[in-house]
Amino acid sequence: MDIDVDGVAQQVSTGRLPGWDRVEALVREAHQTYSSATAGAVADYIPVLAAADPELFGLCVAEVDGGLHQVGDAEVTFSIQSISKAFVYALVCETFGHEEVLERVGVNNTGLAFNSVMAVELNGGHPRNPMVNAGAIATTAMMPGATPAEQWQQIRDGLSRFAGHPLELDEEVYRSEAATNLRNRAIGRLLQSYGRIAVDPLEVVDTYTRQCSLRVSARDLAVMGATLADGGVNPLTGERVVSAQVCTDTLAVLASTGMYENSGEWLFEIGLPAKSGVSGGIVAIAPGKGALGTFSPRLDAAGNSVRGQRAAAHLSRTLGLNVFASTARSPERQEQDR
Ligand code: DON
Repeated sequence: MDIDVDGVAQQVSTGRLPGWDRVEALVREAHQTYSSATAGAVADYIPVLAAADPELFGLCVAEVDGGLHQVGDAEVTFSIQSISKAFVYALVCETFGHEEVLERVGVNNTGLAFNSVMAVELNGGHPRNPMVNAGAIATTAMMPGATPAEQWQQIRDGLSRFAGHPLELDEEVYRSEAATNLRNRAIGRLLQSYGRIAVDPLEVVDTYTRQCSLRVSARDLAVMGATLADGGVNPLTGERVVSAQVCTDTLAVLASTGMYENSGEWLFEIGLPAKSGVSGGIVAIAPGKGALGTFSPRLDAAGNSVRGQRAAAHLSRTLGLNVFASTARSPERQEQDR
């Protein structure tokens, strides 16, 4: 796409969340409404994930001023999985900028499963976007650092700055995925064959597997998302993690690709940039307002948490988060504007 807007400043206009008590009541209402939903199944293609307790259900809304509204299992930790892709992408954009990253990894949806090999083949080895495994592996390969150990350190530190505290590696999840991730290793080799990865692809896949195994809670996801909602400043620590431009770039990518092949339906129903992971987490971001973190391990066929999606749909409506929603001006205002 040929768009030349260099030097045109980005102006911003967003609304506000309802008052504290109202948000608190609506988060509780969403939790209560969907805690009896039992549709979906816990992921089992990474063996250890099959042991997750399917009844766990946590919600947290983080406001951009640091206010937290949490209910249920919001502090239970689980492996971040694919949600890490969003934040590693932001860190890479912070280092290299919009244009350079776009040359290496695209921003369009594949319409195919997150671990599709065909999506890579159909696009001449150019990963279509950073939220599918091929694009995420290519993005991880771009992380600054002279060695895989240094890159891993940078990822862990960067994601911890988004969360506002040091994130720990879940060794059991890492070992379980590392022992079974033949498909991701194949994707790494395929990218190498197309000249898309300059370093050892198996080392990159190992770093990617580690990033997916970092432990977070629904509360952490909400804080990480609220950092993207507030122009890159963590609402709890006040630290700038990435620039406002990087937040804009990342949220645009999440809107079109964050919920995999269901991203269009998600946007249609919920109207927020978001990212899900196979262990049952979702983060949904309301720019300028805050973010919702959800955790419930039962997934639908595309790999998105069933209760998490329902709670997000409920809260998007009741909290007024849908970025596409508007209502007609009041008759009085129409009169004034005449
Ligand atoms: O690479 C994988 O398959 C996992 N580490 C992450 C996949 C994932 O979370 C996809 N989610 N819906």
